[in-house]
Amino acid sequence: MAPKPAELWCFYVALALGFMGIAIADSPYRFFDWNVTYGDIYPLGVRQQGILINGQFPGPEIYAVTNDNLYINVHNSLPEPFLLSWNGVQQRKNSYQDGVYGTTCPIPPGKNFTYRIQVKDQIGTYFYFPSLAFHKAAGGFGSIRVLSRPLIPVPFPEPAADYTLLIGDWYTANHSILKTILDGGHRLPNPNGIVINGRGPQATTFTVEKGKTYRFRITNVGLQHSLNFRVQDHEMTLVEVEGTHTMQNTYSSLDVHVGQSYSVLITANQPSRDFYIAVSTRFASKILNSTAILHYSDSTTSVSGPIPGGPTNEIDWSLNQARSVRTNLTASGPRPNPQGSYHYGLINISRTIKLESSAALVDRKQRYAVNSVSFIPADTPLKLADYFNIDGVFRIGSIPDFPSGKKMYLDTSVMGADYRAFIEIVFQNHENIVQSWHLDGYSFWVVGMDGGVWTPASREQYNLRDAVSRCTTQVYPKSWTAIYVSLDNVGMWNIRSEFWARQYLGQQFYLRVYTPVKSLRDEYNVPDNALLCGKAAGRSTASP
Ligand SMILES: *[C@@H]1O[C@H](CO)[C@@H](O)[C@H](O)[C@H]1NC(C)=O
Ligand SMILES: *[C@@H]1O[C@H](CO)[C@@H](O)[C@H](O)[C@H]1NC(C)=O
Ligand SMILES: *[C@@H]1O[C@H](CO)[C@@H](O)[C@H](O)[C@H]1NC(C)=O
Ligand SMILES: *[C@@H]1O[C@H](CO)[C@@H](O)[C@H](O)[C@H]1NC(C)=O
Ligand SMILES: *[C@@H]1O[C@H](CO)[C@@H](O)[C@H](O)[C@H]1NC(C)=O
Ligand SMILES: *[C@@H]1O[C@H](CO)[C@@H](O)[C@H](O)[C@H]1NC(C)=O
Repeated sequence: MAPKPAELWCFYVALALGFMGIAIADSPYRFFDWNVTYGDIYPLGVRQQGILINGQFPGPEIYAVTNDNLYINVHNSLPEPFLLSWNGVQQRKNSYQDGVYGTTCPIPPGKNFTYRIQVKDQIGTYFYFPSLAFHKAAGGFGSIRVLSRPLIPVPFPEPAADYTLLIGDWYTANHSILKTILDGGHRLPNPNGIVINGRGPQATTFTVEKGKTYRFRITNVGLQHSLNFRVQDHEMTLVEVEGTHTMQNTYSSLDVHVGQSYSVLITANQPSRDFYIAVSTRFASKILNSTAILHYSDSTTSVSGPIPGGPTNEIDWSLNQARSVRTNLTASGPRPNPQGSYHYGLINISRTIKLESSAALVDRKQRYAVNSVSFIPADTPLKLADYFNIDGVFRIGSIPDFPSGKKMYLDTSVMGADYRAFIEIVFQNHENIVQSWHLDGYSFWVVGMDGGVWTPASREQYNLRDAVSRCTTQVYPKSWTAIYVSLDNVGMWNIRSEFWARQYLGQQFYLRVYTPVKSLRDEYNVPDNALLCGKAAGRSTASP
């Protein structure tokens, strides 16, 4: 997983290379050249066609230091359009780089596009993934770690090594078959197994030295299932959640919902042998599990016997664990600073939005919706239509702030919002599944979650002091989750279910964070290398 020198050069450039016309002097540039191809992979022992990046599955890991400028030149060698998106990377003032179809034109087959991304003040663990079609089921994803600058301490001793675990449910059917099932209006069958770093049970080994402490960055890159992560006979200390340094609580296992990332420290403090690292599905009718191996360097005993069990359907257990995950307010590290105040709990809410998900048949085909609107893509990326003032692509207000009670319908749903507003979003889940919701462009405070139906009185139990700031939150079955978001990033931002079949069949929309004042201080121009498609084809990307 370590980056190869050939694919990562680091240039310290004093003079910014005309980066969107804005000089970001002294911030290092890192250049990546990525070739996206199909190739054979065998994650569960069955040959299937996977999406490789520079021949690798999962794709290469991105190492960056906060404020780095990443130039990632993606060559699409697939016979179909392709885009990568950067889950949790905030793309400040720059939603053009977000790599979802609402912001960025697909890279045509045989063509390339260079993403220019600055990772600003977000030290932590994120991932990238292919956002079009159902490509995510074929791989093409990888880990992103943003490190603090040298000399800026993190609130725990330097670990002996820092390991990545990309875990996720997996289908042995290829992504085009899965897409055909969804396009036909059907639900997907259960996945076939769980993969860890692209491999099946006992196929991945992490070597540790007795007495030393290791960081494990765990990301659920799967398509649907919440996963429980545990290491046989070892406790773990939680240290980071999607860019927030947490209170360092210890856990014997950890629930990681789809799209979420956590970092834990694990000390090799047991008698030398090999131990199971176990991952299993939560809240699932059929429990799937997989394992990797924690190998003590002087171990002569391999794993045997049953894998350690974990929680399966216990919702309260998971809810209590989620509530125990809090920000360490005394720890160093960048912290979101809404309206110049580190106290998010003291800021008045300017707007409340309540989002309810639903599942229904529309024209006899399975669809999923938010506030009764099932998203359908337009012929042009919404951000580009907005930038070039192209009419007839989307309407602001095409999704209401509150559930309307209407029958499900299809639309290109865009919600308008004011730059610098401080909003509350309540996700209300009436269904019997765990949901996972993600907002691009931001991290938000998860101020509360509980069973039942949210009412204004639910605010009395909000954590207004040390909630974690993150980009993906779970909502338990027949429960609600409330978040606060400081809308300090102008752009067109995707809000989506991370349950990928639901996202694909309409459970997403865009939040257009807008200011009438056009200024490069608030938002960059469309990048001069932007690919233009749909009604934006032929327009000029030269700065106005
Ligand atoms: C990408 O890889 C394919 C297959 O190996 C190769 O044919 C193609 O030339 C490569 N493209 C680039 C831009 O490196
Ligand atoms: C998916 O599988 C089908 C049937 O095996 C095959 O025809 C098709 O080429 C595969 N497509 C991809 C993109 O892997
Ligand atoms: C495509 O790659 C070439 C170098 O291989 C680069 O010069 C060009 O800027 C890239 N195109 C885009 C749109 O980023
Ligand atoms: C919070 O961070 C401080 C500063 O690094 C550290 O000393 C303290 O142990 C942490 N507290 C908890 C409960 O994690
Ligand atoms: C893991 O899966 C295997 C194969 O399905 C099963 O035999 C085993 O009981 C499962 N273990 C746990 C802890 O669920
Ligand atoms: C928040 O609202 C309350 C009551 O409406 C008001 O008294 C207070 O000044 C407001 N606080 C801020 C920071 O605007």
